[in-house]
Amino acid sequence: MKGLQLIATGGALPGRLVTNEDLSQLVDTSDEWITTRTGIRQRHFCAEGETATTLAVAAARQALARSGLAPEQIGCCVCGTLSAQYATPSTACLVQKELGLPQDIPVLDVNAACSGFIYGAGVARGLLAMRENDTRRYALVIGCEQLSRLMDMTDRSTCVLFGDGAGAAVFELAEDDGFAIDLGARGDMAITTPAGGPIGMDGRAVFRFAVDALPRTLHAVLEASGKTLEDLDWVVCHQANSRIIDHCVKKLGADPAKFYKNMDRHGNTSAASIPVALNELAEQGRLTPGMRIACIGFGGGLTWGGMLITVKGRAV
Ligand code: ACO
Repeated sequence: MKGLQLIATGGALPGRLVTNEDLSQLVDTSDEWITTRTGIRQRHFCAEGETATTLAVAAARQALARSGLAPEQIGCCVCGTLSAQYATPSTACLVQKELGLPQDIPVLDVNAACSGFIYGAGVARGLLAMRENDTRRYALVIGCEQLSRLMDMTDRSTCVLFGDGAGAAVFELAEDDGFAIDLGARGDMAITTPAGGPIGMDGRAVFRFAVDALPRTLHAVLEASGKTLEDLDWVVCHQANSRIIDHCVKKLGADPAKFYKNMDRHGNTSAASIPVALNELAEQGRLTPGMRIACIGFGGGLTWGGMLITVKGRAV
């Protein structure tokens, strides 16, 4: 079966660092409350001149440069986001323009909230497979968010959770029996964001959903690929809350060292969280050729998505 293999990654974090202490000056909260309930210690917000678009372009440019590919070799560009600067043109079209990607390829944004990067990869795989006689078998997939634009900074139950950022990956469509992808959704108002904001959420309902969706989706991709948890080098989950990941590690009886976490430094960056995490692993030299990674997203929609990929070549 043809699947996506990871060729290269890129990332971009905006310039304004906001600590829990900073937020405690704005709302009735504390570093202790936020850290123990979520694992989050700080997050980055866009500074003057930074937007979801500038972050997406920077992350995508870095991933493309590290892939060693020319822009002409890219066969599609898909961006997962719920906080795009413009409804149209899509973020992906703006990336296409900035990077000089071909004009005769599909280029679009996908909104599946925190599952957006996995959904984006699924769409990209379908688009590449649809054009199987095309030699451009590489996809540029991005997750980017400027959630600070959509937050009610007087609502302590949400404003402490989110951050801005972008991550990108170049994938190759190649024969790979170890590849698997599983996408699903259940229409539900547990997380809502009207156009223009603010983000609203029933935190406890989302927690219950997440601790069910995460292990279920991981099992689904493992079963589809005939692999076990032991075959995985990394599990890169959506970085909503460290307690959600800890809960699942316990439920699965898994090795916690395989479950990468970075929400302490970035908060919840929705569709960007998985590619930002992949990029950090790559930059730390911890993604090497042949490694198998499960990426699991879950979030607004409600949506969920899992993907089991192999690292091809050096990811950075
Ligand atoms: N600081 C201090 N107190 C707070 C804060 C805060 N930032 N936020 C809420 N509280 C208070 C509440 O007002 C409440 O007070 P009360 O008992 O006097 O009414 C108390 O803390 C408990 O509130 P809960 O919402 O019940 O707190 P809970 O323990 O459920 O933790 C949290 C909230 C962290 C959001 C938790 O529900 C959670 O992790 N849910 C998962 C949701 C999530 O991660 N969403 C991310 C976005 S969606 C996604 O990415 C999938």
